[in-house]
Amino acid sequence: MNEPRRVEHQQTDKGYVPVYTTAVVEQPWDDYKAEDHATWGTLYQRQRELLVGRASEEFLAAQDAMGMTPHAIPRFEQLNEVLGAATGWTLIGVEGLLPELDFFDHLANRRFPVTWWIRRPDQIDYIAEPDLFHDLFGHVPLLMNPLFADYMQAYGRGGVKAHGVGPEALVNLTRLYWCTVEFGLINTPDGLRIYGSGIVSSKGESLYSLESDAPNRIGFDLERVMRTRYRIDTYQKTYFVIDSFAQLIDATGPDFTPLYAKLAEQDAIAAGTVLGSDRVYTRGTGEGWASDGDV
Ligand SMILES: [Fe+2]
Repeated sequence: MNEPRRVEHQQTDKGYVPVYTTAVVEQPWDDYKAEDHATWGTLYQRQRELLVGRASEEFLAAQDAMGMTPHAIPRFEQLNEVLGAATGWTLIGVEGLLPELDFFDHLANRRFPVTWWIRRPDQIDYIAEPDLFHDLFGHVPLLMNPLFADYMQAYGRGGVKAHGVGPEALVNLTRLYWCTVEFGLINTPDGLRIYGSGIVSSKGESLYSLESDAPNRIGFDLERVMRTRYRIDTYQKTYFVIDSFAQLIDATGPDFTPLYAKLAEQDAIAAGTVLGSDRVYTRGTGEGWASDGDV
């Protein structure tokens, strides 16, 4: 199997990680070893079991509809048939994290980059950079949902635009991605459920985000989220809760340019802060929080 080609290192929303070549690669499915399929199977089975009753119904149903199973690493080609018919998205294989503008451009064109390689068995519980399990198990299912699929495209278009506005706008927009796509919760008649990819692909955070007394759980508000710093090295101090996927579309419909100008005048909010204006689901005890290190 080819080793991923690292191009440079960069501080990103995933921490200090390698950024890879922008080339699209064909998934080398025949080259996966038994060990790779076993790693997928172990992670898949463990997370699915944990996520029933914890992840949003849309997420679980989509995963089934796509035909993902623990038996083998899915073939992108097969997933693309189902995904393309549902929402017109296409998965493309990549070496790993892409430079920001390339990533935004793919999303804006309904292409989702998926890292083709999977973590080693000794990295089952934690890997700093996104691998195939995080991308495929975590991100791809909700692309089957028409509203979420549109949101992801809108985010990509917004990213291309923010790139032209400047680094501060990109910081604001990255916070939105982090608090929704990666670490979002959704309110349902049965209680809070997980939809963020960073949570669904992590055993520890699947439990922590819903069941721990430590973190805050606060109603989603676009401006609030875009001002809020977050954690890259620990579980989140605050999770933002949406009422529906439609809320994401509504919030991101308008042009953000005037909002970026307004945000530039305001201070950022620390990851663990609760404001008087927040719609609080649960106020965290803050137990175990690191006192610094928000990004
Ligand atoms: Fe991710």
